[in-house]
Amino acid sequence: VVRSIALLGATGSIGKSTLDVVARHPDRYRVVALAAQSNWKAMRELCLRFRPRLAALAEPEAARALREALAADAVSTEVREGAGALADCAALAEADTVVAAIVGAAGLASTMAAARAGKRILLANKETLVLAGGLFMQACAASGATVLPVDSEHNAVFQCLPPGYERGLGAVGVRRIVLTASGGPFRERRPEELREVTPEQACNHPNWVMGPKISVDSATMMNKGLEVIEAHFLFNAGIGELEVVVHPQSVVHSLVEFADGSVLAQLGNPDMRTPIAHALAYPERVASGVGPLDLAAVGALTFVRPDFERFRCLGLAYEALRAGGSAPAALNAANEVAVQSFLERRIGFLDIATTCERAMERVGVRPVTSLEDAVAADAEARAAAAAILANLS
Ligand SMILES: NC(=O)c1ccc[n+]([C@@H]2O[C@H](COP(=O)([O-])OP(=O)(O)OC[C@H]3O[C@@H](n4cnc5c(N)ncnc54)[C@H](OP(=O)(O)O)[C@@H]3O)[C@@H](O)[C@H]2O)c1
Repeated sequence: VVRSIALLGATGSIGKSTLDVVARHPDRYRVVALAAQSNWKAMRELCLRFRPRLAALAEPEAARALREALAADAVSTEVREGAGALADCAALAEADTVVAAIVGAAGLASTMAAARAGKRILLANKETLVLAGGLFMQACAASGATVLPVDSEHNAVFQCLPPGYERGLGAVGVRRIVLTASGGPFRERRPEELREVTPEQACNHPNWVMGPKISVDSATMMNKGLEVIEAHFLFNAGIGELEVVVHPQSVVHSLVEFADGSVLAQLGNPDMRTPIAHALAYPERVASGVGPLDLAAVGALTFVRPDFERFRCLGLAYEALRAGGSAPAALNAANEVAVQSFLERRIGFLDIATTCERAMERVGVRPVTSLEDAVAADAEARAAAAAILANLS
């Protein structure tokens, strides 16, 4: 089959890795739509190279610049602008596959549009599941959309789970899911040192090259917390069935333990092209450009329990999952605001967890029965976090 792809977040880290895999298999994949926020120069290059039918930029100014540039290049790609244009890409009739790789809550509406349109969704935007996991999975079930996890841990779990897990893990003999975490760049720092760390240090991940937001989340371990919530919705897993173990080498991408004591794991070099290629080709396998895993060169695979005191964000995510309803959406929003502020050097690293914790205390927990509920919870927590930050800095 030739798959027609709409790539949301085309200019980002996942977008780049996706296009790298896609370009290796021109007989299998065709790019029909590309979307991003404002980076029209990168979009121009991508349009010249992949010739999509549609390109969307959230920012109107940038879309105008892209439209003019492509006209001068005599490229016939149609350029649309605004948040609605992202959803247009996601629901485009010519696309059978949507790669959801926009960062943050900004990816929610377009990922939901792909779900409603019954697409095959390669899901990198974990925030969709954190904000509205129940609604998203329901929308996929109703439309017949397929969800293939791109997040490396969830892709690993997906590869290890037996068929029928949607009915409940216990029903298919699964005891628990163990998500591995690298522990980020500050795994061995003393707590008092964490006060002074810079955005550059936080973004300098030992094993993975990623966008700035997820890199900071990795350093606070909020990323792992968001992934626990993501796994809960993706795999219909209870809180008690979800564990985290720190594994600094990032070679074991996650594990599934069965009732009989068997544990299956997926291993590989830490390179997002592996889970992306897996999801693109599923159930087949294609080359991703990732080299063979040299276990002897890795030498040792080590595992330690996460330190919930040093990495408070991980515990906050478990609490939000336990509270349910709008709590995960609120946590995610407060974190997005705090991380942005940290990246802009307005607050310290430890203030991220403090902001999230206080914002969670301030906002109430309400049921999320519509997308509007999720968006309202997101907005309320953003406002609460902004007020808390104003007091901090
Ligand atoms: N990077 C990884 O290795 C990795 C691993 C697992 C999961 N993920 C998940 O994948 C997603 C993308 O992460 P990333 O690291 O690739 O991020 P990134 O490098 O920062 O790229 C973000 C992408 O989203 C676009 N974008 C941002 N805000 C937008 C908006 N308001 N409207 C439309 N597009 C917007 C950006 O466009 P512009 O360039 O125009 O700003 C860019 O294309 C995140 O949800 C992350 O958690 C990433």
